[in-house]
Parts: sequence; structure tokens; C-alpha cells
Amino acid sequence: MTTNRRYTRRAALASAAAVALVAAVAAHAQNDSNTADEIAKYRQMLAEGNPAELWEAAGEELWKKPAGPKKASLERCDLGKGPGVTKGAYAELPRYFADAGKVMDLEQRLAWCRVTLQGLTEAQAKANPFSSQGKPSDIERMVAYITGESRGVKMNVRLDHPEEKRVYALGEKMFHYRGGAYDFACATCHAVDGQRIRLQDLPNLLKDKGAQAAYTTWPAYRVSQGEVRTMQHRLYDCLRQQRFPEPAYGSDVITALTMFLARNANGGTYDGPSMKR
Ligand code: HEC
Repeated sequence: MTTNRRYTRRAALASAAAVALVAAVAAHAQNDSNTADEIAKYRQMLAEGNPAELWEAAGEELWKKPAGPKKASLERCDLGKGPGVTKGAYAELPRYFADAGKVMDLEQRLAWCRVTLQGLTEAQAKANPFSSQGKPSDIERMVAYITGESRGVKMNVRLDHPEEKRVYALGEKMFHYRGGAYDFACATCHAVDGQRIRLQDLPNLLKDKGAQAAYTTWPAYRVSQGEVRTMQHRLYDCLRQQRFPEPAYGSDVITALTMFLARNANGGTYDGPSMKR
């Protein structure tokens, strides 16, 4: 399954039927005590075709389609490896961008390209980052496409530029920062080996293995939600569990946390978009 998972039209079509099935099962599974069994079964069924492939295919189309007031596609977007280079770009993000004068993660950079190349306003470029029922998100689709372009590539996030170092240190600080009604930090749940909450294993994100396994598998098609979710969405879920206020979409706070997690995953082979519970 880790070998060649690049999608083909045929695979995309084949998994279209599976998506409908999984969505139905997901709805049913929510109030079913055998959720884990059900999901294990369907996971096996879908082993040959992750529905996320559909998001990747749709994202590629959006990426290449002229849009916005300037009627430009995103094909000249510089994700750090030069204009138009998508292969392997995600495995090196976040990084410092001289043209913007700051460290950006994929989603900030995507918004930047939509503003500078396509002429959207920042508000337009950041609208609807997470899909909801009947309201698909272009951002999630394009993120699925771009991350998929790094599949099989080793994570290689650098801390060369002083800004990269500063942003990493900020992310590290946030990871340990306690607050909210429960006085939790990320570290409360994610800095210990073998910790569990309900039935879920909590990865130790301070260790190579834990950070790699977690970071290299997002975005993920969430069987329980019938949607592809981004790392940013996962972080929102965790911040909610922490009873922290939700940061604005695409904010520097999220980039700092992402920098910390991505760098800690260095050396791991990127393998997303994946499929998760
Ligand atoms: C109250 C406990 C708790 C806190 C605090 C918390 N998380 Fe989580 N986190 C979870 C749970 C539960 C999961 C889901 C694990 C699963 O699905 O197996 C998770 C999953 C994750 C994942 C994905 C792991 C994977 O392998 O897919 C990442 C990354 C993550 N958290 C980062 C963070 C960060 C960064 C913070 C701080 C902003 C944070 N978490 C705070 C409980 C927490």
C-alpha cells in the first residue's frame, strides 16, 4: 500500500462508489458501539483505494484552472522549490519565503499565491478552509493534491534562516504552554510514551517515531467524518480538547505549531493523504 498509490482516473472512479458506502457507514457508525470493528472492516475493503484520491484529483484540477480576477492558475505558485514545482515541496514546509518576508506553512503559502497570482482578496483566499455537509472546500482539495505530490519523499524541514529558528522556538513554547479551563498543554497529552485517552493512542510528538508517524499521515480521509481533513483541522480539534480559543485560519500561531511538528518529523517518509478513523 505504501508502494505506488498515485491515483489514476480508474482508481478514482472505483473509489467513488466506495466513498458513498463509507459515508453511509460513517453516519451509521457514529452511534454504534462496534465502530472500531466496522471501520477496521471497511478500511480493509478500501485498502486498494483511499477515497482521498478523489480529493487529490479535484485539487489538481483546481490548481490548474484559471481563476480569480486575474484569470490565472496556480501553476506558477512558488511553494519553495521554485515557481511551478509541486513535487517534494510539502516535505520542506514550513519555510522562510523572502518575497513574503516570513515563514509560511502550506496553507498560508497557498493563500499567498491565490492573492498574488489570481488577484483574490485575502479573505476570499482563506474562505471555507474546512468542508461541511454539502459545502466542499477548495482549500482541502488543493492541500490534498499538493501534499500528495510529496508522497514517498523524506521530510526535510530546515532551520537555516533566523526566522525559521524563531518560529520553531515559538512552536515549541506553544507546545508546552499550559492554559484553559483544564490547564492542559499539547505536552499534557503528547509528550509521554504509551499514553491513551478513551481508546485512542496518543503519539509522543517529542520523539522522532511519534512525530513522524503523526505528521507524515496528514491530511487524512477520516472515515468517521467522510471527509479529508488537513493537519490544521486536526490541530483545531486538539485545541478544542484543550479548551483553548480557536486561532484564526492560516494564522502564524498555527504555522509555528506546524513548524515544530514538521521539523520533529524530519527523516520520516511522507505518506499522505492517508486514511484514519
Ligand atoms: C486532552 C488531550 C489532548 C491535548 C491537550 C492535545 N491533543 Fe492532540 N490528540 C489528542 C487525541 C485524542 C488525538 C487523536 C488520536 C487518535 O485519533 O488516535 C490527537 C491527535 C493529534 C495529532 C495527530 C496524531 C496522528 O497520529 O494522527 C496531532 C499532530 C496532535 N494531536 C497535535 C496536538 C497539538 C499540537 C496539541 C496542542 C495544541 C494537541 N495535540 C493537544 C488529544 C490531545
